[in-house]
Amino acid sequence: MASTMLNSANCSVSGPVKLDYVGLKPSEVPWNVLCVRPRSMTNVPRKQAIVACDKRDDVPAPLKMGMSDEECEAAVVAGNIPVAPPIPPKPLAPAGTPVVPSLPLSRRPRRNRRSPALRAAFQETSLSPANLVYPLFIHEGEEDTPIGAMPGCYRLGWRHGLVEEVSKARDVGVNSIVLFPKVPDALKSSSGDEAYNENGLVPRTIRLLKDKYPDLVIYTDVALDPYSSDGHDGIVREDGVIMNDETVHQLCKQAVAQARAGADVVSPSDMMDGRVGAIRAALDAEGFQHVSIMSYTAKYASSFYGPFREALDSNPRFGDKKTYQMNPANYREALVEAHEDESEGADILLVKPGLPYNDIIRLLRDNSSLPIAAYQVSGEYSMIKAGGVLKMIDEEKVMMESLLCLRRAGADIVLTYFALQAARCLCGEKR
Ligand code: PBG
Repeated sequence: MASTMLNSANCSVSGPVKLDYVGLKPSEVPWNVLCVRPRSMTNVPRKQAIVACDKRDDVPAPLKMGMSDEECEAAVVAGNIPVAPPIPPKPLAPAGTPVVPSLPLSRRPRRNRRSPALRAAFQETSLSPANLVYPLFIHEGEEDTPIGAMPGCYRLGWRHGLVEEVSKARDVGVNSIVLFPKVPDALKSSSGDEAYNENGLVPRTIRLLKDKYPDLVIYTDVALDPYSSDGHDGIVREDGVIMNDETVHQLCKQAVAQARAGADVVSPSDMMDGRVGAIRAALDAEGFQHVSIMSYTAKYASSFYGPFREALDSNPRFGDKKTYQMNPANYREALVEAHEDESEGADILLVKPGLPYNDIIRLLRDNSSLPIAAYQVSGEYSMIKAGGVLKMIDEEKVMMESLLCLRRAGADIVLTYFALQAARCLCGEKR
């Protein structure tokens, strides 16, 4: 067997080198699997990783110090001990430090946090660009329009800005997006029929993206609010009641239209009862057995959605969404929703908002074997951005910590407006 050591600083080969040494070659493994780069390969693009192979040309000659192993051992046995650095002195405490007997602790958890290498070794949770889903706002315009309440986010032109943004995201390993359309007022109606127009903004955009990037994973939002003249996720009866089963009928048509255009995952965010099962049946009936359903299982009636509703101009024209979205005070109820969605055939269970609802993410993680998604919503994003702009917090560090916390709580994937920025951080790039 080859005995080769890699020096992580430059990857030069040191130690005894035999003929059957292990060399290095670039491979198509994702960049974040390994991050050592040999001196001879400093021109290898970042995304390539280095793995062992059995061939290498630039072998350094074995080091020859003049003595055999036997001679070295004999010297030590005879008492001629080679010189090594002395035992290091104990570091001094600053003047004034009280002298106290050490606490009789058998466990000192700080031992495992002593150095960056130990901390990295014992890190329990990780975050990778592959875990991120990038929500993108689209509109019919040619230009990208900034969203006031969400600094750094735009309503992207579906043909230009969107395509560029997707390309940037893919460059740093984010290959999943979710689309949210800003629909012209003239196309909105009380029954939201534009939602299943095969040539509407969303299906048209899906077709364009799939044509350009066939392997892009496209999630869609299934709900009537961007298409509803009432700004509600369902059809509103004259007494203000949101009609459940009639809305589900529309949602099925919407999901099928999105699947037909090429959507990979349809995501009902409406919170109507029974929609997952109905959508599953509708997709299957049309031959879309392969299209997944990510159900917004525990979607709370949250004030953290404010900036999003501004972005899409989708504020409810009256009332609130409390008869369908969940009460933020409720915990057990999330299990009722989760059991329903699971039995109706959901592929992924989503919790929304994210950070303030970390307990719900953990609850679903511990009670379901399905993948869990967390949605870090617009209000969470905007608060971190605002805090950063005002120099009250370190935006980048808080961003990364918030995403890691969602993962720690049990989310497999995180929908976040920070997806591109965070992935760039993970790839070691600055904005
Ligand atoms: C509506 C929908 C909303 C969000 C995603 N889909 C808003 C709402 O329920 O009013 C919010 C996302 C965010 O705030 O980032 N179906």
